[in-house]
Amino acid sequence: MLRNAMEPVPKRTPIARLLRALARVAYRHAQSGRDLLLAAAAFGHNPPKFNQCLNRLECRYGRSRLWSYPPVVGFALSNYCNQRCRFCSLDLKQVTRRVVLPVDLFEKMTWLRYVQEIWLSGAAGDSLVHPEFARIVRAVRGTAPKSRLMVCTNGLGLHGENLEATEHLDYLNVSANAASEPTYAALIHGGSFRRLLANLEALAERKRPSLAVHLSMVLARSAVPDVKPMIDLAARLKFDAVEVYRYFPIPPVEGALPLSEATHDEPDLWRAVRQLSEYAREKGVGYLVAGEQLAPCRSLNTAVTYPGAGGCCSPWSNGHISIGPDGEKAFSICCSGVSLNLAVDDAALVDFRKVWNSPRMQEVRRTVNADDERQNNMCWLCRRLERADYGSKSHLRELAGRKRPSIAFTASDDPIAFPLSRVA
Ligand SMILES: C[S@@+](CC[C@H](N)C(=O)[O-])C[C@H]1O[C@@H](n2cnc3c(N)ncnc32)[C@H](O)[C@@H]1O
Ligand code: SF4
Ligand code: SF4
Repeated sequence: MLRNAMEPVPKRTPIARLLRALARVAYRHAQSGRDLLLAAAAFGHNPPKFNQCLNRLECRYGRSRLWSYPPVVGFALSNYCNQRCRFCSLDLKQVTRRVVLPVDLFEKMTWLRYVQEIWLSGAAGDSLVHPEFARIVRAVRGTAPKSRLMVCTNGLGLHGENLEATEHLDYLNVSANAASEPTYAALIHGGSFRRLLANLEALAERKRPSLAVHLSMVLARSAVPDVKPMIDLAARLKFDAVEVYRYFPIPPVEGALPLSEATHDEPDLWRAVRQLSEYAREKGVGYLVAGEQLAPCRSLNTAVTYPGAGGCCSPWSNGHISIGPDGEKAFSICCSGVSLNLAVDDAALVDFRKVWNSPRMQEVRRTVNADDERQNNMCWLCRRLERADYGSKSHLRELAGRKRPSIAFTASDDPIAFPLSRVA
């Protein structure tokens, strides 16, 4: 007999619930068995693979004190930049001390050999302003021969020894952001489109076939007409892919793009950008729009998805080291916008387990996916935060005021969900 469509859907019977729970447990154990076999096969000759299997197991069973290292780690090599993108939150006026990470730090971090994907770039600032960028790349490659070495740069510093060092990289994203001089000038101050193009040509000449090169652009309104020319540029230089990012508007600091440049609320515009995937396919260029792969691309970032783990895996799988405007170094686990920041020094980064298994990290792992979300302000906020809506967080402020009075807000309406803490 057919059920009346207006009738409420019946609740699952206890037997159905039991069967579902059993299926979940069986699936989880099957995945874990697979990981154990893979870990055994990788033991001794492929440290990153061994580590990732262990990490998946530890994440799946919600362990808070870990044997494994994060499979993805990023280092901002500097806290400053050689250009000013008008969509970037890096405000050089606030940088009181220009600081770079020391080369010998990279020579000492032997644990990096376990990391699958090492980013020698991150957060705000450009890595290629580091006077010893090439030495760092060589040092990390020496320590971590089986890891994927990744860099994201504006491309201005891609020449000379830095260009030579790309032979040790596996993945290079150049944030070109524009494919023509006028668009570049509208979006970027202090750079040089000509220099960028010359560097890209030189890279195309000398790059090893195994190095994947992507060109990326932030989809501010002025950049929309450049998406197709960017695909043409990538095709001409035989690069792998073009990536189009969502633009997260920044607070209105001096020189920042106006809010009218934001495009996140315009489905027609995004549809038109997505439709260029056919064109990219024809040109043999990979095409990624807002993280979605629309034309095939041989090299992607590691997607850290752990079957059977459930919830957010960041506190197990990710580590980012950044340098603040006063030169202070911080460790975080995600770029949620409300991310945990642990003050760290070089010694703690060398003896990384001190940071990775610090009391605060263990607490985050215990609470990130807890049924009772009240245990973790940071993740509560992250799950409600619309990063594109930088200008008006009033709804969030109101909600937090009612439900989470312990969350404070700064004058710029940014939530502070946690105190800055120091690693013991
Ligand atoms: C912060 S940058 C750091 C690395 C390097 N300086 C660079 O520009 O490639 C990392 C990436 O974020 C992008 N980005 C910067 N500001 C953004 C924003 N407001 N919304 C979305 N992406 C942004 C940049 O274009 C770049 O590809
Ligand atoms: S090059 Fe990167 S760090 Fe520099 S201003 Fe642009 S987005 Fe920001
Ligand atoms: S804030 Fe919490 S929920 Fe959000 S990405 Fe980070 S760890 Fe995951």
